[in-house]
Amino acid sequence: MTFREIKPGIYWIGSIDWDRRLFDSLIPLPQGTSYNAYLVKGSEKTALIDTVDPTKEYELVQNLVRIGVDGIDYIIVNHAEQDHSGALPMILELFPGARVVTNEKCRDLLVALLDIDGDRVDVIEDNDTLSLGDKTLQFLITPWVHWPETMLTYVQESKVLFSCDLFGSHIATSDLFVSDERIVYSPSKRYYAEIMMPFRSSIKGHMEKLDKLPIGIVAPSHGPLYATPDPIFSAYRDWISDDVKNEVVIPYVSMHGSTEKMVNLLTEALIAKGVGVAPYNLTVTDTGELAMALVDAATVVIATPTVLFGPHPQAVCATYLVNLLRPKMRFASVIGSYGWGGKTVETLKGMLSSVKPELLEPVYIRGAPGAETVREIERLAEDIAKKHREIGILD
Ligand code: FEO
Repeated sequence: MTFREIKPGIYWIGSIDWDRRLFDSLIPLPQGTSYNAYLVKGSEKTALIDTVDPTKEYELVQNLVRIGVDGIDYIIVNHAEQDHSGALPMILELFPGARVVTNEKCRDLLVALLDIDGDRVDVIEDNDTLSLGDKTLQFLITPWVHWPETMLTYVQESKVLFSCDLFGSHIATSDLFVSDERIVYSPSKRYYAEIMMPFRSSIKGHMEKLDKLPIGIVAPSHGPLYATPDPIFSAYRDWISDDVKNEVVIPYVSMHGSTEKMVNLLTEALIAKGVGVAPYNLTVTDTGELAMALVDAATVVIATPTVLFGPHPQAVCATYLVNLLRPKMRFASVIGSYGWGGKTVETLKGMLSSVKPELLEPVYIRGAPGAETVREIERLAEDIAKKHREIGILD
């Protein structure tokens, strides 16, 4: 994909990865992704903003050649993760006079991860500026969007915000700018759920700072750009708020059908009470879909049989993910079936230590569900509905 001009003197020079289907050996990418690098040409100096994944460094160089760049003075590194910094060693070789500009934590990570010569790095502080002549770069240190060293770069005169991972989306598209917000909302929410959700409170603080800047274009490092910040800022405000929705997420796994029957009973009972519910069969679920559902849900019910002495490994994995992603959920419970014993409920309860939800009385039975189980599931559905009423999300 060739370079494209965003504003006079500001170019997209990244790479679109149409085929990539997994990120960090963890995150499914059903729609591919892009690695957005940018070139900012001032009247006196030229800056490269981030690079690309090392698998795509040829495309970055090709774009630099096509654009006719005859020198790079600064390489701004907003984030040390290799999908943005991986081509940095090669760019430093090609442009031996270029200086890397980043914060201290990022410099240390670049040295550790990529063996970059620390002497080629100029360290900046929050709100420092760098003049390119008729364009001024302003650096905003914004830890934990996605790693502790992350920062954003703002071009004051052009009002362009290079937000790196923040406000990104994993989607490969030929659209330079978001052409239809409805198409990008879902990939953006998936991206937020998988990457940003654990840092909800940090993002709140960063967005307060961003609200003070007259931002025009938002140019993230993945997915299309936003011509105005309103759509993505307003979506983020919703996702990072403390407001939960009248929804129950049920990640479940069943071996011989008893747990699945209980999931079906709970699903029907919740629907009858006006509570939204989304069961996710963990044997076929895309973890990104599950993560997205966790963004808004008030309640999570883990459903699992006991395997030998504890929860099914699929349920352990899902519960670990819930705890890792730290959604704003308020309530949790466990349902399922065992044969002879075990510590399934205790094990799962102990795995939610970062989220600290209010735990509702589980329904954990021996063998197949009978009439008593139906009554207990109904009781759990009513407990959930009552809690949702108490916090004002169910009439
Ligand atoms: Fe797109 Fe955290 O790297």
